[in-house]
Amino acid sequence: MSHFTYQDGVLHAEGVALGAIAEQFGTPTYVYSKAALLANYASYADACAGRDALVCYAMKANSNLAILDLLARQGAGFDIVSGGELLRVIAAGGDPRKVIFSGVGKSVAEMRLALSHDILCFNVESIPELHRLNDVAGAMGKTARVSLRVNPNVDAKTHPYIATGLKANKFGVAFDDALATYRAAAKLPHLEVAGIDCHIGSQLLDDAPLLEALDRLIELIDALGDEGIVLHHLDIGGGIGISYGEAGEAAPVPVGDYLGRLFQRIDAWRARRHGGKPIKVIFEPGRSIVGDTGVLLTKVEFIKHGEEKNFCVVDAAMNDMARPALYQAWMDMQPVVQSAADKLSYDVVGPICESGDWLARDRALTVEAGDLLVMLQAGAYGMTMASNYNTRGRAAEVIVDGGASHLVRQRENPADLFALEAVLK
Ligand code: LLP
Repeated sequence: MSHFTYQDGVLHAEGVALGAIAEQFGTPTYVYSKAALLANYASYADACAGRDALVCYAMKANSNLAILDLLARQGAGFDIVSGGELLRVIAAGGDPRKVIFSGVGKSVAEMRLALSHDILCFNVESIPELHRLNDVAGAMGKTARVSLRVNPNVDAKTHPYIATGLKANKFGVAFDDALATYRAAAKLPHLEVAGIDCHIGSQLLDDAPLLEALDRLIELIDALGDEGIVLHHLDIGGGIGISYGEAGEAAPVPVGDYLGRLFQRIDAWRARRHGGKPIKVIFEPGRSIVGDTGVLLTKVEFIKHGEEKNFCVVDAAMNDMARPALYQAWMDMQPVVQSAADKLSYDVVGPICESGDWLARDRALTVEAGDLLVMLQAGAYGMTMASNYNTRGRAAEVIVDGGASHLVRQRENPADLFALEAVLK
């Protein structure tokens, strides 16, 4: 069920008309639905009920404190990729002991910070990283819990920029090197080998590659068990996709179906080989938690009729939403107020001085200057990838809860953008 619906021809977020939000908070503004967020989280939590499982929300998808707070209250853990993200979890009241730390390039300072907050696990991606973490933990008199990110060499069949589980990707330890890397980790005195993880890519519409990756992890867990290296958790990463509404697009696998199949395989394996021993299962979903919970609300500045194309120039740009420019991603663009008048084909573009600054191409719209449009399914990898290019302050963020709108991030003031800069004396 969508929480963004037309009521009498006017698009609403839950019970609030988007026009009212534009009036109160201006544009461009990211608008999120609290109910949509909680429903998406519940689709994971319900499928995990009664099991030893932890949903570590991949906060790179959307790290607004209000979003983190709402998820933390539901019991979520967090998948972080920087010290900055850990500070956000703490500021939002999240539990650092439910945090896993992913990423290929963790610095000494980030390791120290994470160890000082006793995070659940470091997802380690290389032998040099194991040694660095062992040294940092030793110097602090601590033991770091580690998991190895194994690259299962499975084709996730997604955009090359967001496929991560192939041999040619920078991520993870190669499958064939995994056993030797675990042996090396087990010998390091300040590390505790706790688990295994992978993440094969993002926006996966089919769960077959994820289940294939699971089989490969299980193979390794068994081989490690035979050597006396016992793992306590298995982390399958994120990756389940969402529907962006493009014509002809395949439907994404429902989260409940995927988790049902995954747990079935894990249960069958535990009964068969793992001696029925329990194993904690961790997920790192990002997009499937927040993707469809947000829209980017924008105002039409000008209509330009070019020789070959019509342009609808809006006040949001590639700095607010980078996905189209970066991945040629198709994002749905709809009017806030529906019209029965004739439509024309437009490219919806922003004010930035780059031809790559487009948000949607060849869309049939009835628009004039001053109208409001929304980009749908903009809740994931929207605001977190926003920049200040062209000295544009980043958009405001609002969460709608029933009939109430809450400003959860103020629009940036351009003067703040150069406040940290200095001229030569
Ligand atoms: N875990 C790890 C280690 C990851 O690298 C990612 C995403 C996730 C979990 C969450 O994946 P998700 O459930 O969201 O698919 N900016 C791109 C997506 C980049 C994904 C990076 N890693 C986009 O806008 O499509």
